Amino acid sequence: MPDDANKESFLKGMSQNRKAADKSSWEQRYKHAVMTTTFLILIVTLIVVFERSDSRLSQLQNVRRYSQTTIFNDTMGNEFPWQSLRLPRNISPLEYHILIYPHFKEKTFSGIVEIKTIIKKQTPLIILHGAQLNILSTKVTIGSEDGLTLKIGHVKNRYECRKLQMHILQMDEPLTKGSKVNIILTFRGKLEKKLSGLYLSNYTTPEGVVKYLATTQFEPTGAREAFPCFDEPDMKAKFNVSIIRSKDMISLFNMPRLTSTRYGKDLFVDTFQQTVTMSTYLVAFIVCDYASVTGTTLQGTKVSVYAPPHQIHQTNLALNTAIKVLNFYNKLFGISYPLPKQDLIAIPDFAAGAMENWGLITFRLSALLYDPKQSSAIDREYVVTVIAHELAHQWFGNLVTLKWWDDLWLNEGFATFIEYLGVNKTDPSFTMMDRFVQNEMIKSMAYDCEGNSHPITVTVSDPSAVGTLFDSISYGKGSSLIRMLSNFIGEDNFWWKIKTYLNTYKYSNARTKDLWDTFTGLTHIDVSTIMDTWTKQMGYPVVTMSSSEEFVQVSQERFLLGRVGPSSSFNYKWYIPFRYAVAKTSGISNQLLTIHPDSGVLKFPADHDQVKWLKGNYGMYGYYRVNYEERNWRALIKQLNENHTVFSTADRAGLIDDVCFLARANKVSQTIALDMTKYLIHERDYLPWSVALNCLRFIGERLRNKAVYDKIQKYTEGLMHPVLSKLGWKDTGSQPEKYLRSTAVKHGLVFGHRSIIEKGRKIFEVWMRHGKMLNMNLKDEIYRAATQYGGEQESNYVLEKYINSQVPSEKHKLLVALCHTSHGRVLHWLFESAAKDNVIRHQDMLILIQEASSNPGGQRLVWQFVVENWDSIMKWFSNSMFVLPSIVRSVTSSFSTEEEYVQVQNFFNSVDTSCCQRDVKASLNRIQMNIDWLKDNEDILTGWFSDPNNF
Ligand code: BES
Ligand code: ZN
Repeated sequence: MPDDANKESFLKGMSQNRKAADKSSWEQRYKHAVMTTTFLILIVTLIVVFERSDSRLSQLQNVRRYSQTTIFNDTMGNEFPWQSLRLPRNISPLEYHILIYPHFKEKTFSGIVEIKTIIKKQTPLIILHGAQLNILSTKVTIGSEDGLTLKIGHVKNRYECRKLQMHILQMDEPLTKGSKVNIILTFRGKLEKKLSGLYLSNYTTPEGVVKYLATTQFEPTGAREAFPCFDEPDMKAKFNVSIIRSKDMISLFNMPRLTSTRYGKDLFVDTFQQTVTMSTYLVAFIVCDYASVTGTTLQGTKVSVYAPPHQIHQTNLALNTAIKVLNFYNKLFGISYPLPKQDLIAIPDFAAGAMENWGLITFRLSALLYDPKQSSAIDREYVVTVIAHELAHQWFGNLVTLKWWDDLWLNEGFATFIEYLGVNKTDPSFTMMDRFVQNEMIKSMAYDCEGNSHPITVTVSDPSAVGTLFDSISYGKGSSLIRMLSNFIGEDNFWWKIKTYLNTYKYSNARTKDLWDTFTGLTHIDVSTIMDTWTKQMGYPVVTMSSSEEFVQVSQERFLLGRVGPSSSFNYKWYIPFRYAVAKTSGISNQLLTIHPDSGVLKFPADHDQVKWLKGNYGMYGYYRVNYEERNWRALIKQLNENHTVFSTADRAGLIDDVCFLARANKVSQTIALDMTKYLIHERDYLPWSVALNCLRFIGERLRNKAVYDKIQKYTEGLMHPVLSKLGWKDTGSQPEKYLRSTAVKHGLVFGHRSIIEKGRKIFEVWMRHGKMLNMNLKDEIYRAATQYGGEQESNYVLEKYINSQVPSEKHKLLVALCHTSHGRVLHWLFESAAKDNVIRHQDMLILIQEASSNPGGQRLVWQFVVENWDSIMKWFSNSMFVLPSIVRSVTSSFSTEEEYVQVQNFFNSVDTSCCQRDVKASLNRIQMNIDWLKDNEDILTGWFSDPNNF
């Protein structure tokens, strides 16, 4: 059948329907035209369109950033009629009607989109996004403002600019303000194995059959790879989708299915309910052959979890959690979840951990599936956390959306903050509120103290750079600032204002300023002025506390490691909500004060004779460090040794992290920092131990090849001995005790403690020989004992288990252990296999690089791999840009010599690093810091570890 004729008749049909349109029937006719009259024609058109061969499909483009002076050309080499990275606002989309047909055999998809728009400002150009799509036909109808007339618009010219990922339809007459313009486009794209847009994924059944699915990942700019659209977060619209699928598959969309109509022998057309007003990046559709389990929230929302049929028994935790968390959020936010359903689905190839598509959340397998017989407490916590995070986005991100990607932190910072409340509510045994301090605050402070960090709100004019913002600043710092504010103004005030914010901006967009402005009206607190100092400049302060006979003094300065970086219009001064505790013989009291940017040195009276010690950032709600004079550090250490439980676990963790980082910045002597670690002999809590072990590992990694290393091993072994003997190797105790046991054993392996290595290997051997069930919460460590310290046979056994396992969390553990193998051949195999996307998927490349870079025997191999495969890596992750910065940072993280510095510098000078310039600089800065650190500290540390008094 001649496809052009068909297309014409489809388009004609639509226009004839419009000719007699009057105001009242405009809507109806529109729907009629799209949904019913031409539906069969549409399908035929699609199928025919799909048959056409096509040589004009755009190629995957390399990731680039462009300066404002770049001239953007169209595909013919002429100047593109639009030269901005952003779309103009002359046209507003109102509704999309999309018909999509993924064709698995041909590995392509075709579709028709009709976009109902309104003209806001007169323009002859329709400019919209489309990437790697071939637009086959265009049709524009123009309805008058009063709805009385409808005419066909004449498209004079069409242009495509691949770099801008935009298409232009140039009309022969300007579209006038107020007119209702429908843009109808037919298009085709490739259905390939990639990780963004509409892409192909697969899984293998236990019987060895490969099954395919088509799925989407649109955030931040993937929607334009699936259908032509106005792909910016504030160009919200309603979406109507129909999907053509084969009879043995199902299709899913953000909304529930409305109808399912047989078409021909093997095909069905599913149509779905219209969405609420939403951003393009939150649209999702999937065609697969999955099974599902379903439940209902108190409000009646239908919650379903989808997984490959052979893994459906691993979905119970996800279903129960999602229902509990939704019930909790409905109450907490005072706005009910607005959609009739919420699906959660496991996707075998997935770049991130999960994606919050409204009503159809996609997850990597290990973030959704949980097998109580095989998975650990940490696996469970991960699943619950990711679900709580993505569900938080249904309000923070989906209902109220960032205006532009500059404010990504409004999405991610909020979702991260709320995720902890959600997990805490569903399972308090995880002690999440404590964990926040380490997972978010301490982690992001380690990143944010370098001159290569960035302010939380950054200007991103180029959408291709948005991916790089998904870092610990948006997540960790963002959530820490929200927590700091909530603590400062009080929870009641906080939630009162947050509810106002959600109600004011629902179904719309907000900027950071809108959030702060919502907080006006709180007496004496100018939230906007205070918070600007935290969001508009990078970094954070260190508050120094000192005391004299009569006064306690506090002052602030920027806390910085390494190079200084750019200047700040706030001069690196902050409004600091400063809570501090004073211990006197009579007891401990605490106060809150605000340190102003221009406070200078603040003095307040102190009854010095009675003061035992001072502790700043009491409770650990503030995003800053605290330093003291030596006398006070010594008093704090004394207190820790006498009775550490006068401080909360968070405060203990904070003291250790502060002293450790202040020593790294030469603000406190290393001796004080190491002296503090001695109290750990009494410590039995996870959080302080975990922070301290990170700190000691940092030292150990840098002195690994020095003679003093065996003393470090001995010191850490002695320090950990009491807690390890208390905990034993059995899977007993509270959740934090289980975490502590696994962290301690892991660090025993990191430091090379003989007794732990032997015990771990023995347990592994029993498992290998007799299949005896392992302690589920120590599996990571036991596998690692075998791969790191055992023979090649052990590593191969782990590899075999990896290949055969059907439990994603188990696979993850086995893979991580394999990265720590001491057998080069095994490591080689891993990287080769990941490069081929065979057995190990591309999505797991980052895990390989991160883990193997901390394997002392693997560092060189990983670097070599990245150097040799840089172009391919760029291509694999060109549309999942958040992966690339992490790759750059991890692969260089352990380098600490001049030679390595030069190597890294030369390599990154020779390739396209536009994806991650900040990270390349940060990596070089880190290597330099490692070099300097060794020069500054080697002698003093060698002295300390050689002093028998310290053992
Ligand atoms: N919106 C993100 C997913 C995402 C990340 C999309 C990067 C595009 C680029 C999602 O909400 C998210 O943050 N996922 C986290 C999980 C979470 C528990 C922190 C992830 O993927 O790790
Ligand atoms: Zn998120």
